[in-house]
Amino acid sequence: MAPEIQLQLAEEVGVLTATITRIDKKNALTNAMYGALADAIARANEDDAIRVLLIQADGDLFTAGNDVSEFAAQAMGNAPEERHVLRFLRALATATVPIVAAVQGKAVGVGTTMLLHCDYVLLADDAQLITPFVNLALVPEAASSYLMPLRIGHTRAFEMFALGDPVPADAAVAWGIANRTVPVAELRAEARRIAEKIAARPAGSLTAMKRLMRDVEKLVGQMDSESAIFVERLASAEAKEAFMAFAQKRAPDFTKLSRR
Ligand code: COA
Repeated sequence: MAPEIQLQLAEEVGVLTATITRIDKKNALTNAMYGALADAIARANEDDAIRVLLIQADGDLFTAGNDVSEFAAQAMGNAPEERHVLRFLRALATATVPIVAAVQGKAVGVGTTMLLHCDYVLLADDAQLITPFVNLALVPEAASSYLMPLRIGHTRAFEMFALGDPVPADAAVAWGIANRTVPVAELRAEARRIAEKIAARPAGSLTAMKRLMRDVEKLVGQMDSESAIFVERLASAEAKEAFMAFAQKRAPDFTKLSRR
């Protein structure tokens, strides 16, 4: 039986809403879920009736990021036939449809870096942006190694990436990663209101504006560079220690591992 894809799609008033629904695993994203997200972006680009894509998540947090057990499987040489994450990231970089994100609780790893490709980011006041790539002995992806320093400066980007400490919602807004915060109880309704407002604007103009605002070639090139290094890092002794520590629910110990 095919694995259940924990992404729900609903189309209403020109807005395609993609809701992440893997609550028991803190909305961690699997290869199949990346595939479904990539398909949702493609559908929103192609279908004239869809004027905005809204990405949101059920439960108390947006997403715990990439499924760490899938990282671990890849580290052991068991990569899926197609890594849909690459299709998802490319779809984010090249999307012509405006994308709105509604984020409550923690947004970990790709949960944060995908926001750099969204056109309007609404945070619940309990939101926390966390990028623990280095804690997992990996490197940032989704062109965030380029976009994050560009958006918030090298100093803050280095701290976010190297330490992986949570950035609270109000700081994320002050730094320009997100538009504004709302109380958690108002997140869904407000995100919907914004998405419908954007959907009422001339779609051709929005797409043209979006294209002018983003250097798509640069973003895709950066993703390719990151991806090559990411795959190398996945196979490193440091990453294996990080994934084993996650599975064993303990802190990793990198101190005995060489940087080479
Ligand atoms: N991949 C796979 N499973 C994950 C996961 C992930 N990224 N994040 C959480 N889960 C699973 C846990 O293993 C646990 O499964 P179990 O009930 O079978 O043991 C379940 O989801 C609940 O997680 P738990 O850690 O108990 O929840 P929490 O509320 O205490 O903490 C997080 C939530 C998100 C802070 C924490 O789970 C976490 O740090 N996850 C890893 C995040 C990460 O490193 N992502 C990769 C980024 S590149």
